Amino acid sequence: MDIKIAVVPGDGIGPDIVTEAKLVLDKIGEKYGHSFAYTEVLAGGAALDAVGEPLPAKTLEVCKGSDAVLLGAVGGPKWDDLEGSMRPEQALLGLRAGLGLYANLRPAILYKQLIDACPLRADIIGDGLDICVVRELTGGIYFGERGTEELPSGAKAYDTMMYTYPEVKRIAVLAFEIAMKRDKKVMSVDKANILDSSRLWRATVEEVAKDYPEVTLNHMYVDNAAMQLVRDPHQFDVIVTSNMFGDILSDEASMITGSIGMLPSASLGEGSFGLYEPVHGSAPDIAGMDKANPIATILSVAMMLRYTFGLTAEADDIEKAVDNALANDYRTGDIMSEGMKLIGTSEMGKLILESL
Ligand code: IPM
Ligand code: MG
Repeated sequence: MDIKIAVVPGDGIGPDIVTEAKLVLDKIGEKYGHSFAYTEVLAGGAALDAVGEPLPAKTLEVCKGSDAVLLGAVGGPKWDDLEGSMRPEQALLGLRAGLGLYANLRPAILYKQLIDACPLRADIIGDGLDICVVRELTGGIYFGERGTEELPSGAKAYDTMMYTYPEVKRIAVLAFEIAMKRDKKVMSVDKANILDSSRLWRATVEEVAKDYPEVTLNHMYVDNAAMQLVRDPHQFDVIVTSNMFGDILSDEASMITGSIGMLPSASLGEGSFGLYEPVHGSAPDIAGMDKANPIATILSVAMMLRYTFGLTAEADDIEKAVDNALANDYRTGDIMSEGMKLIGTSEMGKLILESL
């Protein structure tokens, strides 16, 4: 296959981890006879510094003209004081909306080699964890009307959470489709005891469930879900939820898998196109220091090969290589535990490459 990939290294550790992920793709290309052509583009703080806006039109154009997008991370304290619409994070929202990526898949898997890095008690964790968070990505409060008004008594600010039936339906369908390939359990998370948008969410998910009689559907309020994730994570298989609840719960789910440095994600829309990025942020404190864990980004390219290109053997190969590096006791700082061998970003990338 000839594959065109738009690469957005972004800010902080973004360039460090994207470099390793590209080396992995190149090795896969060599081994299986694919060619990957990369076009590097600017977004986030890097774009603000270079051209004065977080998401230049050219970046969106190059992404649209590619088969898939690989993204590192955006943001950092340097750009924290900018007004909302000029913040680096706007690049992410602009890419998600501009590319129609309404579904964000965040698999939270606890590798058995990392059980010691998991903050939960051994009896809660058992022999591992495998949860898939399906987060709605182009609607809800992230994209609702917002504003700030100056009043005589001081300012007033608001954000609006809004969902339409088609928006909920398409994400629910995807969650059920994913559940059919897993343990056939969907947990829909909302706040239907308070929010109208959640009541629509719940009713729509229930309607979609009728087409999937083999899947068990349950509902949970988001506050309870936050608690149940650490009380008894094994009750979850697929979690489907709104943009903001998914943002919060996926960070929580990632932590119980040992480190946020392990979690890949896929953002998908209609068709096979997708944007792939680690769940973690730009970690500016360790940028360029060869300390970041490249595994989440490397696993993100495995997701890319699987979901966008249908290259299952290649994706399996990468996941096995990651497993191997961990089985041989190599760890970056974020997943380090006693008796393990501490290594840096490039060494971890090299070890994974070598076992491909
Ligand atoms: C994420 C991040 C982003 C989000 C930020 C950086 C805009 O936290 O992908 O989870 O809130 O969606
Ligand atoms: Mg987040």
